[in-house]
Amino acid sequence: MTGPLIDPFARSIDYLRVSVTDRCDFRCTYCMSEHMTFLPKKELLTLEELDRLCSAFVRMGVRKLRITGGEPLVRKGIMTFFDGMSRHIGAGLDELTLTTNGSQLERFAQPLWDAGVRRINVSLDTLDPEKFQAITRWGSLEKVRRGIDAARAAGMRVKINTVALKGFNEAELFDLIDWCKRDDLDITFIEVMPMGDMGDGTDGTLRLGQYWPLKDLRARLAERFTLSELSYKTGGPARYFALEETGQRVGFITPLTHNFCESCNRVRLTCTGELYMCLGQEDMADLRAPLRASEADAPVEDAIRAAIARKPKGHDFDYSRQRADGQMSRHMSHTGG
Ligand code: GTP
Ligand code: 5AD
Ligand code: SF4
Repeated sequence: MTGPLIDPFARSIDYLRVSVTDRCDFRCTYCMSEHMTFLPKKELLTLEELDRLCSAFVRMGVRKLRITGGEPLVRKGIMTFFDGMSRHIGAGLDELTLTTNGSQLERFAQPLWDAGVRRINVSLDTLDPEKFQAITRWGSLEKVRRGIDAARAAGMRVKINTVALKGFNEAELFDLIDWCKRDDLDITFIEVMPMGDMGDGTDGTLRLGQYWPLKDLRARLAERFTLSELSYKTGGPARYFALEETGQRVGFITPLTHNFCESCNRVRLTCTGELYMCLGQEDMADLRAPLRASEADAPVEDAIRAAIARKPKGHDFDYSRQRADGQMSRHMSHTGG
């Protein structure tokens, strides 16, 4: 190991999120436009190149690696990459994990377990098959639920990620909680962020209209449950609470109402080798050029260190003025959330 990565705000960077593809077999309305164009495949880093980059980060102190996309499980040969990364578990890496839409999980659950994946996050915003199809534009809820069951059967802990959407899943809050209790799943709610295609082609009106502040969601939960904050931490941005009556764990990711940037520990690598130092900022560093220029480790490590040295303080997302301030044109699928 070549020493920890420390940013200008004395934050230690030990969590790398890697978007292995910008492609996805769904088109969630808040994430992608229906006619999203994807990168030509020849622009993607090869799996060997992704391995080289991720291994450099592990040498430099990254302890948690989350594979995302797009949908990571639609990348051809992705298990070769997971199998390769598994060599780092316990040898620098504490956790190898992924965030997925679940569509391919039935097939991949066992191989992922075999590669050392013990905990995964599955994005799911509704338990109504028709609404699920509408928000993903053509996804099958039943298939995703079979995938979740397969992951549980393989032994994995599963956390559901639900984007809180006003007028969409407000009425399902308790159904989602009850389902997670029954199926022994954790759940985290996420505030919708003003990123990517805004749906109306012009500004952030749509996202703003969908914004359901998690403090309101929490107040609703508190009508039925006693919530107590937990010290449980995953190294991600969620704050966790226990529902005392059921013993369930519920997480809240609140980029809008409760900024968590001061304890940020992560950076994001895209499938073309761009390193984004913050989800909510445009600045990025190209790691592909130094990677391709030399077989040696030093140029890539130097580029990573230089990038971390300019990590910004945080994002500027803000709906409080009834505008989508800090809005990003970049799609979430580009950097993997
Ligand atoms: P755990 O390991 O379970 O804590 O996962 P995680 O929350 O780190 O990862 P996950 O992929 O489940 O992230 C959930 C969502 O939280 C992401 O897709 C983003 O929408 C949001 N999120 C994660 N990190 C950041 C961040 O640094 N800034 C902002 N604004 N949002 C983030
Ligand atoms: N705001 C908040 N979360 C989003 N995601 C995708 N787009 C947005 C957005 N605009 C979430 C997905 C998934 C994770 C990768 O990011 O639902 O859980
Ligand atoms: Fe795909 Fe995830 Fe975006 Fe949905 S939220 S379209 S699953 S990348």
